[in-house]
Amino acid sequence: MTGTLAPTPPMGWNSWNAYSCTVTEADVREAADALVETGLREAGYEYVVVDDCWMAEEHDADGGLRADPEDFPSGVTALADYVHDRGLKFGLYSSAGSHTCQGYPASLGRERRHAEQFAGWGVDYLKYDNCGDHRGRDAVDRYQEMGEALAAVDRDIVFSVCEWGQNHPWGWAGDAGGQLWRATDDVVAKWRTHEDEFGLGVRDIVERLADLDIASAHGPGGWNDPDMLQVGNGPDSGQSQHEPTDVRRPLTDAETRTHFGMWCLLGAPLMVGTDLTDLAETDRTLLTNERLIDIDQDPLGAQGRPVRRDGDAEVWHKPLADGGAAVALCNLGERVREIRTAVARIDTVAEADGYRIQDCWSGERWTAGSDLAAEVEPRDTAVFRVWPR
Ligand code: GAL
Repeated sequence: MTGTLAPTPPMGWNSWNAYSCTVTEADVREAADALVETGLREAGYEYVVVDDCWMAEEHDADGGLRADPEDFPSGVTALADYVHDRGLKFGLYSSAGSHTCQGYPASLGRERRHAEQFAGWGVDYLKYDNCGDHRGRDAVDRYQEMGEALAAVDRDIVFSVCEWGQNHPWGWAGDAGGQLWRATDDVVAKWRTHEDEFGLGVRDIVERLADLDIASAHGPGGWNDPDMLQVGNGPDSGQSQHEPTDVRRPLTDAETRTHFGMWCLLGAPLMVGTDLTDLAETDRTLLTNERLIDIDQDPLGAQGRPVRRDGDAEVWHKPLADGGAAVALCNLGERVREIRTAVARIDTVAEADGYRIQDCWSGERWTAGSDLAAEVEPRDTAVFRVWPR
């Protein structure tokens, strides 16, 4: 337990994947309005986070941060108020170095001043990146410094540690004051990336989380973060245009189900990263699927784990607070697979002579003996919730 600011994984929207460095205050206001109109706020998405590039090119005379006068002419307080007026919470981005990843002024050495600014502006969430000159200081020290500065201000600010898993933040970021910490490099809107491309695809991240075996670091108050959602994104989205990644088509429906389904099995923070003013109905339905969101937000706060990896067919379990479990049958491969698991082998589910089962995509319910099986299409994932009968 590292605190109560994030008893369940934070949910919200972040500007980066949709807009990258072109983000403006109008985009952020539209996103806040759209969270309400699409029903995403109602489904639990509450933070509106402005990522890199919101700030002016220089610190102010006191070393403080200020909003870019052209892209954010109304200033941060007005934008935070706009977001709060819609029943949402407001987040900003900075970096534990001299500069952000896009070369804007950042917070190393100015943590107290910046934390006070954030509190004064009404910031509820800080995403804190790892770019710029570190001035010879190690990551633990640099993140701890901002964690302490945030703890010292008179406002609750969720601290999202974004150092890409390089220094094993699951071992120290909670003690540094973080509520979530990135476990991997950036997710891109692809299934897989090649070695010479920027970032990781959905499949790459699922495999990385399976290999890392860091579930024991994850729980109420502090969460492993496999990065934000790319649901709804493709070649035209901001990050795909900005980063050196060859994105040729949007994620397919099957890839998108694996992305969202496995992020929920992982108990991941769910930060939507698409243009919400143009959200496809299939993506809206997926992002507001309350059966999946309940699995993600389950109060026990367990991270799902792979219990079997048979080539490209994987079985994942996530124990749930009500004594049941979520089961994912995940086909990372290129041909249809029948994937089968024995519910009785889920060690957190009490043994019974039968189980109640619900398909979390369709909502269909039935009862069964021990075996749970599905024909899973290539790159698709079936997700079930099971309870002892
Ligand atoms: C990366 C970070 C991304 C995004 C980007 C902005 O370091 O992992 O999520 O914030 O910087 O420049």
